[in-house]
Amino acid sequence: MSEKFYVTTPIYYVNDVPHLGTAYTTIAADAFARQRGLRGRMTRFLTGTDEHGLKIDRSATERGMTPKAFVDEVSAKFREAWPKLHCEPDDFIRTTDARHIAAVQRLWTRCVDAGDIYKGDHEGWYCVACEQFYLEKDLVDAKVCPTHKREVEWMKEPTYFFRLSKYQDRLLALYAARPEFVLPEGRRNEVLSFVREGLRDLSVSRTSFAWGVPVPGDPAHVMYVWFDALTNYLSAVEGTENEGFWPPDLQLVGKDILRFHTIYWPAFLMSAGFADEQLPRSVFAHGFLTINGQKMGKSLRNTVEPLRLAERFGADEVRYFLLREIALGQDGDFSHRKLIARTRSELAATVGNLLHRAMPFATKYLDERVPAVDEAHVGERERALRAKCETLAADAGRAWDSFEPHRALECAIQVAIETNGYFDARAPWTIAKDPARLSELGTVIYHVFESLRICSVLLWPALPTKCDALRAQLGLSPLQPAVDQDQWPGAWGQLLAGTAVSPGAPLFRNITREDEQELLKEFVVESVETVAVSKTEAPTEASPQPVTEGLANIAFADFEKVDLRLGQVRSAEKIPKKDKLLKLTVDLGEESGPRTIIAGIAMAYAPEQLVGKQLVVVANLAPRDFGKGLISHGMLLACGPSESLSMVTLEKPMPVGTRVK
Ligand code: MSP
Repeated sequence: MSEKFYVTTPIYYVNDVPHLGTAYTTIAADAFARQRGLRGRMTRFLTGTDEHGLKIDRSATERGMTPKAFVDEVSAKFREAWPKLHCEPDDFIRTTDARHIAAVQRLWTRCVDAGDIYKGDHEGWYCVACEQFYLEKDLVDAKVCPTHKREVEWMKEPTYFFRLSKYQDRLLALYAARPEFVLPEGRRNEVLSFVREGLRDLSVSRTSFAWGVPVPGDPAHVMYVWFDALTNYLSAVEGTENEGFWPPDLQLVGKDILRFHTIYWPAFLMSAGFADEQLPRSVFAHGFLTINGQKMGKSLRNTVEPLRLAERFGADEVRYFLLREIALGQDGDFSHRKLIARTRSELAATVGNLLHRAMPFATKYLDERVPAVDEAHVGERERALRAKCETLAADAGRAWDSFEPHRALECAIQVAIETNGYFDARAPWTIAKDPARLSELGTVIYHVFESLRICSVLLWPALPTKCDALRAQLGLSPLQPAVDQDQWPGAWGQLLAGTAVSPGAPLFRNITREDEQELLKEFVVESVETVAVSKTEAPTEASPQPVTEGLANIAFADFEKVDLRLGQVRSAEKIPKKDKLLKLTVDLGEESGPRTIIAGIAMAYAPEQLVGKQLVVVANLAPRDFGKGLISHGMLLACGPSESLSMVTLEKPMPVGTRVK
């Protein structure tokens, strides 16, 4: 059988819609599938949705829907989102699929047959958001989940346990024998030390709710959502014509769920009788994204809603940015400015421009064809360019093999940079002036076209549509992975002379400074009326704006007219239909009690983040009427664009009502 490549993403919880974090994993998986496909591997790319469990059940209830109707609706959003980001999964599995439910029940039964599932009682602190029990020592402030920073709940129920402890030694042996099982390396140490500390048996069923896969022979129990969910990777292929893809070659997961995938998951499989070589080959944990340096809380999400980004910036451009900007195993930051900067400098000004510079010579002097190379004109520069491109293509291939797409793409761009340099040095505009040098001109343009062809392959995993458009202009067909056919650029000179080229529109949009301001305004700077933010445009990286620009000096007496007080937020809530506003009660130590303040900070802060915070309040501002009975009795000080505002606070706590001066 041909060499296969089975890549998976986590299946996403349907209590959320696709966001940049889930898009990131999916894009990375898609890019790996494409790249391995170009190398001739038979690929299979699986994604899907995780639809059972208490968290989903509660989300459905909150929406006034049955769980089934709710999961159908949200799962469809995931399925429809990925193609819009040019992701092409071969299969989309749902944990509510009959094929999956049957497979999980089979796996369960195999674990029972191995004597690894037994009945007992389970009680402890449970985080519904994680769907996980916590030991008291791992909680924050005694009762708060360390991941979600929300209160855990005490739960007691009869449960089936999985004998996880039994697999501790075999897991350690697995990590030792197969270091690539947990990647990147730093993460492996984390998993190792966790397992070495000792594994406790795992509660794998629940009786307190019914939205899950029934335990075979004991339908009062539904399976623990992670036992259910992890099995998806198996249920998508087991007993089907795709069974030969088992085991997964690459399981991409966020670092938050690495333990589930590198401890529980292989242990379940071991229990079910899978030999070590039948276990997944590599679980790779990628880092977490922040947005303009901030944690990607729900309030920030809408400015990086992936489909909106794709519409305005281009799906390929967003894919490229994420893969190029962030080293896969590390945390990274998304910013619209950086997205624009990379699109502009690396894609438009380097790759797009190279095509744009070379094509007119083919149109004007070379009969709209790929010219032939005249060996008489192949000199040092040509030889150097060829060697450079071959080396960079090989380096890019190796970078993909070692899970470093950012380096692979850097190599691809370097091909275009080198070729732009070659183009400048060879100055075809001078050669073209002399009709006697036509074959020399052809030789130079051939070198540029061939190197663009190489770029079109190297960049294709990240930019499939743009690369196919580039290829179309070079007279080449779209790339299509073919089993056993390695299409990765090897030896120089694959482009055939005589091929008709087909000049077309610029590959990448030219984002002017005006466009940039527009885009940033749309995505980053939204005017906030009730907080004192700078009303200047968002500063670009190159030109930070002085904060005080345009403001005249005032007398100290004028400043003293502003009554700034320290207030403490007692409560905070969202206001229906007002996305940007929060209603706060803020204690200024006044006899009349806390004041109501309406603040335009909802894009940057969730209400619960504010309660208890000490903030600076303009206390003597005339009340402002927001309509519908909403009157604000003061203003909070804050700084920054609306979706990443930072509130002005004090360095150490002070009594409420203290004057700020
Ligand atoms: N349903 C489980 C996974 C079960 S797999 C058998 C789950 N789902 S999730 O919807 O919460 O999505 C988790 C994945 O989304 C993370 O592992 C990670 O891949 C991705 N991300 C979510 N937020 C993220 C960031 N802020 N940054 C990067 N990726 C993040 O966990």
